[in-house]
Amino acid sequence: MKRLYERIVRPLLFSLDAETAHHLTIELLHRASLFDPALRALRSLQPSSKPKTLFGLTFPNPIGLAAGLDKNGVALPAWAALGFGFIEIGTVTAKAQPGNPKPRIFRLTEQQALINRLGFNNDGADVIAHRLAALRNSRRWPAVPVGINIGKSRATPLEQATDDYLYSFRMLRDFADYMILNISSPNTPGLRELQEPEKLSELLCAVSNEAGTGSKPLVVKLSPDLSGAELKAILVVCEENGVSGIIATNTTLDHSSIPPRLDQAGGLSGAPLRDKSTALVREIAARSTIPVIASGGIFDAESAWEKFQAGAQLIQLYTGLVYRGPKLLHEIMDRL
Ligand SMILES: Cc1cc2nc3c(=O)[nH]c(=O)nc-3n(C[C@H](O)[C@H](O)[C@H](O)COP(=O)(O)O)c2cc1C
Repeated sequence: MKRLYERIVRPLLFSLDAETAHHLTIELLHRASLFDPALRALRSLQPSSKPKTLFGLTFPNPIGLAAGLDKNGVALPAWAALGFGFIEIGTVTAKAQPGNPKPRIFRLTEQQALINRLGFNNDGADVIAHRLAALRNSRRWPAVPVGINIGKSRATPLEQATDDYLYSFRMLRDFADYMILNISSPNTPGLRELQEPEKLSELLCAVSNEAGTGSKPLVVKLSPDLSGAELKAILVVCEENGVSGIIATNTTLDHSSIPPRLDQAGGLSGAPLRDKSTALVREIAARSTIPVIASGGIFDAESAWEKFQAGAQLIQLYTGLVYRGPKLLHEIMDRL
């Protein structure tokens, strides 16, 4: 049973192009989310729990679903049933948008990696807020923390980024246990400039004022391609603005480990990102008391353990889940 994914499901999915396989998976998990017997069947595969409390929230286990897999929040009950200790949906933008032209997700099987240049294809904050409201009114809202990751709409100029984030923030915050500002995707032109201290300070100030006292934890997701000096400045701004957590890291633009014949434009994730992302986790944990959620190249118990050793409080999976399937959660939990 445990090898079902690698023996049967993955070969089937990998016979399709990467984005078709993604849509098929999401569609199946969406349907399972509407059907109690399917949820019960998924639950029977759940790993053991090991609760953890962080920024006032209780996580049944420290393994989360990373942003981008369920951008539109269509399969929350299924992710929880599979045993994720928390679920991050998005990136959601204020305006619905189609993303970049296809093809835009590429598998690099030998490297255990993906390159994507999706460009925040999503249904937009209004539609997603309605979807989440309907789920909340059903009996199926998951019993694990839900994070909502927001980003800038492509059509919005960078100078108006704050208002764009604020729109999504207002629409979605009631549904979130914590909110994430994605300022590190490489696929929306200019987005990473929001990591510059002045721009980040403006954004964080505006969002924290909006949130008011006693509001939801605010988390910032960073790029692995920051220099030491850039990171230092970002941490100061995050601390000044009471940021609750940092996700380290998003995908990388460093493709030096990829043979030129396989290379594509976009963000690289998976095994080649592992060391870079761990190094950033270690640096943040050494320089700041802000809790770190680690994401990048987690493929097995050892690479997960490495993130905790580096100082992470929680971890998130994306590419490892594509290659290894839900068994990965068990492997990691067995080691914790
Ligand atoms: C196809 C794909 C789409 C992604 N979309 C998003 C996104 O919309 N927002 C975001 O913050 N991160 C996104 N990510 C980044 C992941 O959440 C994760 O941070 C990154 O891939 C590193 O983890 P991994 O090596 O386990 O994949 C995406 C990654 C992939 C592979």
